[in-house]
Amino acid sequence: MSHQPIWAIQTRSRTVDLEQFSAEVRPVSGAMGAYVHGLDVRDIDIEQLADLLHAFKAVMLRDQPSDLSIADYVAFGRTLGELAIDPYVESSFADYPEVMRIVRDAESDGYNFGGDWHSDGSYLERPGGVTVLWGKHVPSHGGDTLFADMELAWEALTPSFREMLDGRRALHAATGLGHKVEIRSKGDYVGLDRSRPLDRIEHLHPIKRTHPETGRPALFVNQAYSVGIEGCSDDESAAILRFLFDHSCLPALTARMVWEPGTILIWDNRVTTHYAIGDYGGQHREMYRLAVTGEIPV
Ligand code: SIN
Repeated sequence: MSHQPIWAIQTRSRTVDLEQFSAEVRPVSGAMGAYVHGLDVRDIDIEQLADLLHAFKAVMLRDQPSDLSIADYVAFGRTLGELAIDPYVESSFADYPEVMRIVRDAESDGYNFGGDWHSDGSYLERPGGVTVLWGKHVPSHGGDTLFADMELAWEALTPSFREMLDGRRALHAATGLGHKVEIRSKGDYVGLDRSRPLDRIEHLHPIKRTHPETGRPALFVNQAYSVGIEGCSDDESAAILRFLFDHSCLPALTARMVWEPGTILIWDNRVTTHYAIGDYGGQHREMYRLAVTGEIPV
């Protein structure tokens, strides 16, 4: 029996050989995340980027060129895979429907898009693999993006609990988007395509998900979209999911990524959840998001 309360969880710092990268890499926390200097997305070595993502799961590429165009940005996104077009949100760019513009202006008193723990599009049959976010206009302070390392979250469960979850599937439903889109006040972000009923998109995915490239296991549930566990009653599901949500965002499993002008953030949704912190009232924040379609989770 372990007598350690869950909030007291401690982990080992990850050890990554930083010399293997040609760029300057600064880890963000003991769990995950890195700030990277010296890589221009117009001319990036995709294999090096994949190695960075395998090692750190979320990387912020600093010092992007001031003349980077939206065409350059989309061209970069396409080198990462097939870009998804969001089923619910209309793009602000007729020529680039893949780009989702997420904006909250200084006068907004409304909802903060992404302000809950989630993995992008986990309710889809093929949830988001990698997401790319270009900070077009970032607040002077606040508006950071928090991440949780779901490989560490899986590892940090006891063997008995992992055994109970292994082989089970969780139901992920787009209804979790409801609160994001119903609250539309001045300054809130994007247009919603209301012709798509939110309860139509839901899928079962394994709770223990194996990464297609590294083969490593990760916990794959999130607060925003995971609504039940196959074979469990509503009460059982609610209790187990509540525990897993609390467990997976414990401080030792997280990294807080701080925005600066000229930054592009890239993360792997298969092995992380994230949370956009809405603490920048009175300031403008504007992001351009690309979602690279992932595979059916196994
Ligand atoms: C998102 O959840 O996709 C947006 C994250 C952010 O704006 O920091």
